[in-house]
Amino acid sequence: MHFLITAGPTREPLDPVRYLSNRSSGKMGYALAAAAHLAGHEVTLISGPVSLPAPDGVRRMEVTTAQEMHDAVHTVLAAKPAVQAAIFSAAVADYRPAHPASGKIKKQDGPMTLILERTPDILGSVRAAGFSGVLVGFAAETENLLANALDKCRRKSCNFIAANDVSQEGTGFDADDNELHLVFPDGTVRPLPRAPKSVLAEILVGVCIELMVPSTP
Ligand code: CTP
Repeated sequence: MHFLITAGPTREPLDPVRYLSNRSSGKMGYALAAAAHLAGHEVTLISGPVSLPAPDGVRRMEVTTAQEMHDAVHTVLAAKPAVQAAIFSAAVADYRPAHPASGKIKKQDGPMTLILERTPDILGSVRAAGFSGVLVGFAAETENLLANALDKCRRKSCNFIAANDVSQEGTGFDADDNELHLVFPDGTVRPLPRAPKSVLAEILVGVCIELMVPSTP
């Protein structure tokens, strides 16, 4: 089976020396890539800028912006070998500066206004492009975790959403542990209590495999 996994943050340039980004370390996505490889699968990891080495046996494509991640995802989905499961764990910037400056922006007196525009919604674009494999999204929320995750799952035609409450200490962004709720389109919720990201990654890969293999009567 071929897994496509996105990981890490994206960086959206403001000028040649500055960018907008977020606190994602890429640890969850890299743990997923390592777990899928250990389970014997082929893995393509599309990664934003992180300080982690590529896991053994994993093909890594490095990107910087949301647009580059979008283009890399669609290139892999259109190529052989076909992807059977796509897990979108990257913390993709939803907005980018609309007019990045070609030279360094100089400070001025008074406040500064930044105009932002939407980036492409990568997860939201893959079903429309004809992807029919197992599709998994992540949802980082600070409130209404399960309701927001279910809404996201249905809107983006995912097989499930891995939701984490990023308002908690010690889990989520840049932590070694995570606590997830897997939310399925029928409203079923499978809680995964706090554990190292490597342990949760193994469970998530296992759920993808179960969803890929049609059950025999
Ligand atoms: N995602 C994506 N492309 C984007 C933004 C997010 O593929 N431009 C993916 C992430 O990898 C993650 C999921 O979508 O799997 C997160 O969904 P999204 O609705 O963007 O989450 P939030 O950014 O938390 O959305 P909101 O601000 O609406 O809560």
